[in-house]
Amino acid sequence: MTEQDFILNTYNNNIEKGSVKWSSPSNIALVKYWGKKEHQIPENPSISFTLSDCKTITEVIYTKKESKDFSFDVYFEGEKNEAFKPKIQTFFERIEMYMPFLRNYHFRIETSNTFPHSSGIASSASGMSALALCLMSVEEDLGVDYADDYFNQKASFLARLGSGSACRSVEGELVVWGKNESTESSDLYGVKFEGEVHKNFKNYQDTILLVDKGEKQVSSTVGHKLMFGHPFAKERFAQAHENLAKLKTILASGDLNEFVKVVESEALTLHAMMMTSMPYFILMKPNTLEIINKIWKFREQNNSNVCFTLDAGANVHVLYPENEKETVLNFIKKELTQYCQNGHYICDEIGLGANRI
Ligand code: PMV
Repeated sequence: MTEQDFILNTYNNNIEKGSVKWSSPSNIALVKYWGKKEHQIPENPSISFTLSDCKTITEVIYTKKESKDFSFDVYFEGEKNEAFKPKIQTFFERIEMYMPFLRNYHFRIETSNTFPHSSGIASSASGMSALALCLMSVEEDLGVDYADDYFNQKASFLARLGSGSACRSVEGELVVWGKNESTESSDLYGVKFEGEVHKNFKNYQDTILLVDKGEKQVSSTVGHKLMFGHPFAKERFAQAHENLAKLKTILASGDLNEFVKVVESEALTLHAMMMTSMPYFILMKPNTLEIINKIWKFREQNNSNVCFTLDAGANVHVLYPENEKETVLNFIKKELTQYCQNGHYICDEIGLGANRI
């Protein structure tokens, strides 16, 4: 598939109005995407677990209008929201050539998250994928007959243009994005990981510890740009390819020991890149480090396979197999919630992807 394959020119139906609704999950990268080229093309491949409960639910109500400027209103959790508009405006501009109906309708976009608003959890992956999926369903209403595979590909392709990592949220349970030698892949959209997955990874758990619920200190747009001319960029991008290859083998063998090593090393490398860029920054907080040290101690003392990963922020994703659910949750409640803002954390697990509602 190339970018040209996603271009559409005409629609069969001339519909006055309608509405579509999707729920789409967040995802957590195991091999991290950090650094991009023009047009949201990643510098390196990434792979993520799709989550199950951390979702955005978006309804798009569309009404025919004269074809002029883009016209839309955004309602977040029932209230009109101006703050999201610029990002959606940019998104519409980027995808217009692939969705030529956009100027012909006014859109009322009603969106809400299943996770608390100010949790510091990136909602761009779930939010942008939910919106992309809604727009795909509008195209279907307009008479475009999409086969399932192509529908998901184009939805992911569009979501990528909203927020890179959003392209990994359309499907589950594991999604790869970015050309690489080890798996079926594309730079343009996420591809469901079709390799063998050992039963150890079934219903894998992710408990998100909310260490810092504040606004992001550094936007990911700025963050990705800092990989331009970064002294370790070349090595980092090569390492992501190696780690993806390793992870493919690990996913098949079920070797949790090796899984922990790759996942934690990826998280720390992401933050190492931030600490060694110019300007440099530290997104971990003292409590992030307290949690990491406690996880390491618990793992050693209990012969556990619990591990952590991080996004571009201070919150910690605690990953563990389903058969350790009880013991790890007890440990989290007893020893880790003290480091969370207001004791808050969210329990989630690996999920199957977006759903039309
Ligand atoms: O999708 P963006 O541009 O917000 O980038 C997200 C990057 C990380 O979350 C730090 C890593 C990843 O692969 O999800």
